Amino acid sequence: MPHFLEYQFNDSPEFVATFDELPLWSAPFGLLLLKHVELKSNMTVLDIGSGAGFPLIELAQRLGNSSKCYGIDPWKNANERAKQKLRNYEVENVEIIEGSAAELSFEDNSVDLIVSNLGINNFDDPPVVFKECARVLKPGCKLVLTTNLDGHWKEFYGVFEQTLRELQMNTALEKLDAHQRHRGSVESITGAYLIAGLRVTRSFEESFEMRFLDGTAMLNHSFVKLGWLAGWREIVDENEHQGIFAALEKNLNEYAKSKGELLLTVPMLYIEGTK
Ligand SMILES: C[S@@+](CC[C@H](N)C(=O)[O-])C[C@H]1O[C@@H](n2cnc3c(N)ncnc32)[C@H](O)[C@@H]1O
Repeated sequence: MPHFLEYQFNDSPEFVATFDELPLWSAPFGLLLLKHVELKSNMTVLDIGSGAGFPLIELAQRLGNSSKCYGIDPWKNANERAKQKLRNYEVENVEIIEGSAAELSFEDNSVDLIVSNLGINNFDDPPVVFKECARVLKPGCKLVLTTNLDGHWKEFYGVFEQTLRELQMNTALEKLDAHQRHRGSVESITGAYLIAGLRVTRSFEESFEMRFLDGTAMLNHSFVKLGWLAGWREIVDENEHQGIFAALEKNLNEYAKSKGELLLTVPMLYIEGTK
């Protein structure tokens, strides 16, 4: 009997604890990656910044057991969650490594594919990680990244800028500008590949929209608070937080009222570089 026919669903709190919890933020980027990444047999695959196991575990299952996949992330609790998923789903071709991609424990020229969903270019020192990836990749093999691009949530940042202008917060305006420029463009990410010695061979751009009723709903959304609030707080002085964020919320609500909703655009990039 084929092995998969032995499957029996065993309900348990441990199983449900990891079921259906993938952030909708990660999902569109992961789907873009899974849409374009080349599937081959007998590969050694590395997911950099694998977090709670997406898209690592999905990719590993789509590749099947001829490939061995590794996820690397310094985040202990997320790694534990990824390991629990591996046990729950009985996935045998994945190993989780707790550590930083700035120092990979792989030999030179030993890896067939590296992927990173919303990873490398958000890390502390992307050039070092790009270089490490180039070191461990076999010649002719690929580093695949998916990321949001500059222009991310341009509607929100337009209202943020307008709010700071109204309040004549010039230093904060400069910081907001730097915060936005920090996000990569196709050109800057292509440049990062090139500096590491990788040639960009394919790229695809798409976008999707996130819709909120208004600014109040958006600013209180759990994932918005988790993912972005800390960065926005750094733009304005601590003692100005109350006033500025209240004004921002009011302006976002007025903007949403005039448009019928608060629709935020997310430009996405899939980019592939070959050693
Ligand atoms: C935005 S999350 C993406 C997680 C996952 N790939 C996804 O799509 O949901 C970025 C991940 O990169 C990890 N990370 C940050 N610095 C890292 C580093 N130096 N090496 C490896 N992973 C790192 C974080 O711990 C986090 O899990």
